[in-house]
Amino acid sequence: MKYDVITVGSINMDVIVECPQYPAYGDTVFANSIGMTPGGKGANQAVTAARLGKKTALIGAVGKDSAGTQLLKNLSSKGVDTSHILQVEEHGTGTFVAMIDETGENTMVGTKGANDHISEEDINSVFEQIDAKILLVQLETSQESIIASMKAAKSKGMYVILDPAPADGIFNEAFKYADLVVPNKQETERITGIQVHDQTSAHLAAEKIHELGVKDVIIKMAENGSLISQNGSITFVDAIAVKAVDTVGAGDCYAGALACAYLDTNDLVEAAKFASVAAGIKVSRSGGQDAIPTMEEVQAYKQPQ
Ligand code: RIB
Repeated sequence: MKYDVITVGSINMDVIVECPQYPAYGDTVFANSIGMTPGGKGANQAVTAARLGKKTALIGAVGKDSAGTQLLKNLSSKGVDTSHILQVEEHGTGTFVAMIDETGENTMVGTKGANDHISEEDINSVFEQIDAKILLVQLETSQESIIASMKAAKSKGMYVILDPAPADGIFNEAFKYADLVVPNKQETERITGIQVHDQTSAHLAAEKIHELGVKDVIIKMAENGSLISQNGSITFVDAIAVKAVDTVGAGDCYAGALACAYLDTNDLVEAAKFASVAAGIKVSRSGGQDAIPTMEEVQAYKQPQ
């Protein structure tokens, strides 16, 4: 089976806690709201690609529990091919708790659950049946699933985009097989030791990531834009100006949109501009995966003067 985009990644149930501000250590505070919504970096990226009109498959794992069944249904309803997702007996579906304060910033803690139990054999047997131009992968599934999928994608001549998220999942071998790496500020610091606060520090950090063997690098600086480094040339792309309401999954939306636009244009700078708009729209509204924009919404976006 041929797809536009294949995503290998996590599928989680998110518990979203909206609070006026994060509680101080040891405090108990009232939340504005608490709700459950489909999430997971792999799932969010796959939903983004599907909403932007691309034929998308997600490879991942959920538990044989009600959350797992609900998440599979949700993905299918959003146009993602779920036929390569495992539903495992022994482990529960990944679950994350995300706290969002009134600035829209989020802090998360979660368990990988079934996401951490995808084997090299599972990946290889799926890649024998499928193909695509782009692989999108993050760091929230088992390390063997990440490496196996990148190796399989490279052997098929696919362009491999590694979103090195979360920072807690970073391991060096993953960079060996990535064509493009798209870290945010925290991840960049974890990879390079460099604190990114402007274009100069972002450039230095990008150079360090190239030294790991990565051809193309995009350093994401949230509301401060992104820096694209490829073939010795540096381009800076502004973020769109929005009031952040909910930043959960903004990076996933960026990566999914970037993959789609790169597929269409073969131009990383154009793709980064498109991804900045898609992610900006996403953070300006709440609603989990339903807040991810469609192609029409991204194309219709006009920056207020
Ligand atoms: O990037 C946001 C996602 O990270 C959440 O949906 C959560 O499930 C974790 O995977």
